[in-house]
Amino acid sequence: MNIQFHEASGVFSLNTAHTLYQMKADSTGVLLHLYYGHRLEGETEYRIRYTDRGFSGNPYEMRSNRGYSLDTLPQEYSGSGSGDYRPSAVQVLGENGSRTVDLRYAGHRIFRGREVPQGLPYVRGNEETETLEITLQDPAAGLEVRLMYTVFPSCDVIVRSAHLTNISEKTLTILKAASFSMDFPYGNFDVIHFHGRHCMERIPERIRTVRGQMSFGSRRGMSSHHSNPFVILCDRHATETTGACFGSMLVYSGSHLEEIDTDQAGSVRLVSGIHPDGFAWQLKSGETFETPDAVLSFSGDGLNGLSGQYHRLIREQIMDPRYRGVKQPVLINSWEAAYFDFDAEKILRFARAARDMGIGMLVLDDGWFGARNDDTAGLGDWVVNEAKLGCSMGELSDRIHDLGMTFGLWFEPEMVNEDSDLFRKHPDWALCDPDRRPVVARNQLVLDMSRQDVVDYLYQAMCEVLDHARIEYVKWDFNRSVANCYSHALPPERQGETAHRFMLGTYQLLSRLLERYPGLLIEGCSGGGGRFDAGMLFYCPQIWCSDDTDAIERLEIQRGTSYGYPVCAMGSHVSAAPNHQTGRVVSLHTRGIVAQSGTFGYELNPEQLSEEEKKEIRQQVEMYYRYAGLIREGTYYRLTELDGGEDYCAWMFVSPERKEALVSLTVTHARANGPFPFIRLQGLEEHMWYRLEGTDLVCSGAALMHAGYSFPLTFGEYASHQLHWIAEDRRKENV
Ligand code: DGJ
Repeated sequence: MNIQFHEASGVFSLNTAHTLYQMKADSTGVLLHLYYGHRLEGETEYRIRYTDRGFSGNPYEMRSNRGYSLDTLPQEYSGSGSGDYRPSAVQVLGENGSRTVDLRYAGHRIFRGREVPQGLPYVRGNEETETLEITLQDPAAGLEVRLMYTVFPSCDVIVRSAHLTNISEKTLTILKAASFSMDFPYGNFDVIHFHGRHCMERIPERIRTVRGQMSFGSRRGMSSHHSNPFVILCDRHATETTGACFGSMLVYSGSHLEEIDTDQAGSVRLVSGIHPDGFAWQLKSGETFETPDAVLSFSGDGLNGLSGQYHRLIREQIMDPRYRGVKQPVLINSWEAAYFDFDAEKILRFARAARDMGIGMLVLDDGWFGARNDDTAGLGDWVVNEAKLGCSMGELSDRIHDLGMTFGLWFEPEMVNEDSDLFRKHPDWALCDPDRRPVVARNQLVLDMSRQDVVDYLYQAMCEVLDHARIEYVKWDFNRSVANCYSHALPPERQGETAHRFMLGTYQLLSRLLERYPGLLIEGCSGGGGRFDAGMLFYCPQIWCSDDTDAIERLEIQRGTSYGYPVCAMGSHVSAAPNHQTGRVVSLHTRGIVAQSGTFGYELNPEQLSEEEKKEIRQQVEMYYRYAGLIREGTYYRLTELDGGEDYCAWMFVSPERKEALVSLTVTHARANGPFPFIRLQGLEEHMWYRLEGTDLVCSGAALMHAGYSFPLTFGEYASHQLHWIAEDRRKENV
């Protein structure tokens, strides 16, 4: 068993391959956090120290022990209003107006597998999965909280969530329900969070924890471009290859909050969950509210070690297993090639040209439905515009299949234009406060996905299209932040539920479609990577990483994304030069190498390519198919440090058996007479010998990892190298 309860000491131990998590309920029933970190033998309760810090009060039963305070002890799920002045995990409003929550241990159970949350994406679990459920109660508040700890031993991951049940006869209103809270009583930490904006998502910022509170999050009704629901706490000296790193990632796509608080004595608390701003969930007697999963992981091997654990967990336990090992075709997307200006003949010309370069799927982006000729109209009317296309979608998809290609189609289900038949018929289906004009963004409003009739309409409208054409792929877009989060279907006292019910509606629609079309691949998208999160990855095994397709900008975006998410999830395409977002000119070679570290595809007008470019693209596509297994299933390593000051960005993939490695390097700043770009490889077998493909050079894994490898100087901006190392059986005497 990886979960143990030691009767004599009362200590719970959660073991993974390399980590240990310990806690215990003390004599007053407070669930104390004892330890999370390297796997070790024995118990760690000795770390708890008691002292009177002043102005840190004592629970009534401990009033004569001034060293005992909820304000200073490390806890597992912090209450509120009961003498712990750090951020709370849970806040509840009772009918009597009290907001205090003081939770005490009431029991536990350990079981195989896990309980699957209702209507939410989750970490799936397998035969090695075990769960510890600890029940805490506060009879005065009428609240029971079941803390769920599900252990994924080989991924070194613990998944936490909380189930809140109303055990009173009255109605409770939940004002905050974090997925977890955790205290780190000792250590000096840096925080790495992932901020951004449209066209520049998931940029890591590494900062020292400060005394007091730091918080990151999104109030946008979406996980957002601006702040990803993933944070890392690491040793001040941690690097890509060394040091202790803790990660927290929510499996959720709506508004979220990550709070990091450093208290009077330097103890750090991390709390994460659904954003409490605007949240108020009515819980009737006997009802339960389940929080989203939070994925916790620890690595003692630096940031690359931590990333590897998240990549593995997401690939093996979050993404739908039906996509594992499936060789997805390289696709061409019509957006940057045609925007709204196309008909079926033009799309077929793109398809023919793409097919001749080995590309396997044509994706028709925005503009094929309703009166959609620009972004002012048509959203919500999921009816094929046959007049614009010049044929039905069935005919177009047949003709694309006749070329030997598969076909994909764009949708933006959760949105509506005011200029649409849907809005004219059902204005109350859009989120909007009574007596107010709504915030408009990109000319669109947000549909009320908390309503079952809206979800049912979208399901039927989408099925109507999907049933009448051969469609293997859907791009699921979401092009604005949510505002005026008011549902006309909910009573006033339940409006605080709208934002979360919205996410439940979206997840329901995704689940129903995937159930009906089991072969369908849905690529998530939100104006690029505005909903790049583990919740969406549960349904969509790939997500369009950013609307910025500039290869040099993508180096940053994809690198930042890689801290938490696997490369096989990152939608990345080769687009035109000059680039449509930045005007930058980058060689086709470099654009190809950068896009290959992702799902790989093209987003350009193939009719505007020279013969030479077409030839190069043919080679790129062949190359991608050759390396796709290594890129999708291999272990990914960042080879350059965050803010390392290098003029290049390098990364690599190593096959699971370490017999093959692919190293990529792009120069980001050309310098006259500059230093040679230099890297140390990672993840190889020290004693194995690796040949650099196409050369006589054979090096030991140890040489490549410790002595490193230098690249020749290049001339011109943004040159790239790609090296393929293959293990050899024979020994070579000299390197
Ligand atoms: C935003 C997406 O990220 C783009 O790729 C494209 O699909 C447009 N929306 C279409 O409106």
